[in-house]
Amino acid sequence: MTGLIRWLGAAFVVAVGSAITSAADSGDLAIKARLILKKHCAECHSGAAGAPSTLAMLDYAQLTDKDRRLPAFVKSSAASNSQIIQFMEEGSMPPGDRPRVPAEDIAVVRAWIEGGATAYPKKFDDVFAYAAILKDLQSAPADFKSFRYFTLHHLLTDDGVPLDLGALRESFRKALNSVVRKELVALKTIDPTGTIIRVSLTDLGWDNHAFERIQDGKPPLEVDFTLFDVMLLEYPHGEMPPATKEAEQLTQLWLRPSAPVRPVTFVRADWFATAVDGTPLKTDLKRLLELNGGRKRGIDAPEKKSPPLKLEDLANLPALGQGKAVPIVAIDAWYAADYQPKNGPKIDMISTDPEGKPKTKFKSGERVKLEIRSDSDVFIDLMLIDTEGTISQQTPINNNRIRGGVAKEVRIGGAKDGLFLGDGHGKYRFVLFAAADTFPEGERLSSKHESLAIERYVHRFYPLPAKIGDPPRFDPAKMARTTAVIEVTK
Ligand code: HEC
Repeated sequence: MTGLIRWLGAAFVVAVGSAITSAADSGDLAIKARLILKKHCAECHSGAAGAPSTLAMLDYAQLTDKDRRLPAFVKSSAASNSQIIQFMEEGSMPPGDRPRVPAEDIAVVRAWIEGGATAYPKKFDDVFAYAAILKDLQSAPADFKSFRYFTLHHLLTDDGVPLDLGALRESFRKALNSVVRKELVALKTIDPTGTIIRVSLTDLGWDNHAFERIQDGKPPLEVDFTLFDVMLLEYPHGEMPPATKEAEQLTQLWLRPSAPVRPVTFVRADWFATAVDGTPLKTDLKRLLELNGGRKRGIDAPEKKSPPLKLEDLANLPALGQGKAVPIVAIDAWYAADYQPKNGPKIDMISTDPEGKPKTKFKSGERVKLEIRSDSDVFIDLMLIDTEGTISQQTPINNNRIRGGVAKEVRIGGAKDGLFLGDGHGKYRFVLFAAADTFPEGERLSSKHESLAIERYVHRFYPLPAKIGDPPRFDPAKMARTTAVIEVTK
């Protein structure tokens, strides 16, 4: 079982709320009532042209229309005066010899109406999510640049089992609280059904300037790179904003000015809960929280270092299909392994001894070379992650091309006879990026810890196009990433 399924499994508890205790509970009730009406009524009450009735059961505005002259379909807080309840209870709807709606389902719809008939959307799709977030931003206070959104809406499929959203929210809150400066006692949800959660980077303590950009021969450069960005680099479900009115407005208003490292509008809360639980991401975020703007003085205790990455556990990034929106590949993920696009170059990289013989186990003081093959002409970017997690860029200057079908020995470390391996023991990772088109090389970001800094290699892919919906200038979904690991012992 995957982590996600295990985590969801724990939340498959169908609880029919008897007493409504909070906004989130009434949202959950709205989701359940919607699902019942969808199941028993929406087939005929779809609102589609030619449907047997003009009533669209999932159109909340129509269902609760106060201007309706006839008895209300749904009269908020008055279930017995609501036509849908009357018809279900007397058995006239669904009509004919269709099975009646079970009493416990009618009870849920009743409870929903009595509790104020909280609004639900026609569909829990991304259109809904972008519209809800836009609405939130339009009425938000001035510091909305620090807002970020997590969502659960994608879990609510129309034929799905009713989920216990309360439990899902709580798992997310706990996961988030394991990596924040000050505990969040309650989550802020922005839609009536409570499926979209808003956080503020300032409240989380995630806005600190924990990183600087390391440049050869120059002093480090201040960069805007938040803890949310560290997380975003790992996020495998990102999408560019689609060309819809709401997404376009939201991009102008908030996404452009707040400039996250990837233009992701919302992150799946269930992904976050498992991602923080199952990887060294948690330790890294916690250590970054300590920095809090300043440089961390003194020597870090060695046990504060993130647990070493277990390379055998690294899962390959999913090769994404062509959805409607442009997917954002987590090409710079630290905790994921390689990426082989369906329509991209096939590349292969092996480590060798100075004579060119394949070799993966070395002793300190020896030298290593790399040989790269590609099935087509590519441009490359190469980096090395040493045993401490320190990055060095190894892209051969002015010679970053590999011809298709020809094995090429790349000169690493500037030395003709290979890279000299010092006395660091453990695993070294060479990570190669390759694409048919030229692309900007990565930036090396390093946390301000005095020792055992947390590093990331960031390709500034996915700039927002001038016109939302336009394809990216360079499409990283066509870029391959491959890793060669060597082990160095005494
Ligand atoms: C098999 C198709 C079908 C199903 C299923 C069905 N209905 Fe209907 N419903 C109709 C038709 C047809 C009408 C219009 C009847 C008429 O005008 O005489 C109607 C009318 C109604 C009306 C009155 C609409 C109006 O404009 O005044 C309500 C309210 C209603 N249904 C509720 C429900 C509810 C609640 C359910 C589910 C529990 C349901 N229906 C399931 C076919 C269906």
